[in-house]
Amino acid sequence: MAETRRILVIHGPNLNLLGTREPEHYGQTSLDAINSELAAVAKEREVEAEFFQSNHEGALIDRIHEASAWADGILVNPGGLTHTSVCLRDALVASRLPVVEVHLSNVHAREPFRHTSLVSEIAVGVVTGFGPTSYRLGLEALLDQLARAGDD
Ligand code: DQA
Repeated sequence: MAETRRILVIHGPNLNLLGTREPEHYGQTSLDAINSELAAVAKEREVEAEFFQSNHEGALIDRIHEASAWADGILVNPGGLTHTSVCLRDALVASRLPVVEVHLSNVHAREPFRHTSLVSEIAVGVVTGFGPTSYRLGLEALLDQLARAGDD
């Protein structure tokens, strides 16, 4: 029997405030509710998902380093670090894991500094602008990608 696939879901800075933070951009759904929906998708697809949120760049990087030992892929909303963090991008590259980047808001329809992502270039793909649905679509896409890669 094939081994169960394992996914690390990472939420960057300020995403612990979802539900109350700038609801006009990020909606009213809490991070716990988003994680619950992803856990349900993971269960349905018979994969394991682990969730991690931090407001600290180094903690996110440490978790990515650890994940390279056990995970098959990373779903990440890097928050504001998307636009600034060479270090986060380098950690994702070093993990050698497939990465899918997601955003609740459509970053391209917002301030110019949000139009640049240091992560997109090294990601398998990006889902942006669909609220919590971005996460669900991103997870489904990552799992489809892993299934395809496994078929090769
Ligand atoms: C975000 C978009 C970022 O520009 C912002 O800094 C966030 C959230 C999103 O999910 O829409 O913190 O990643």
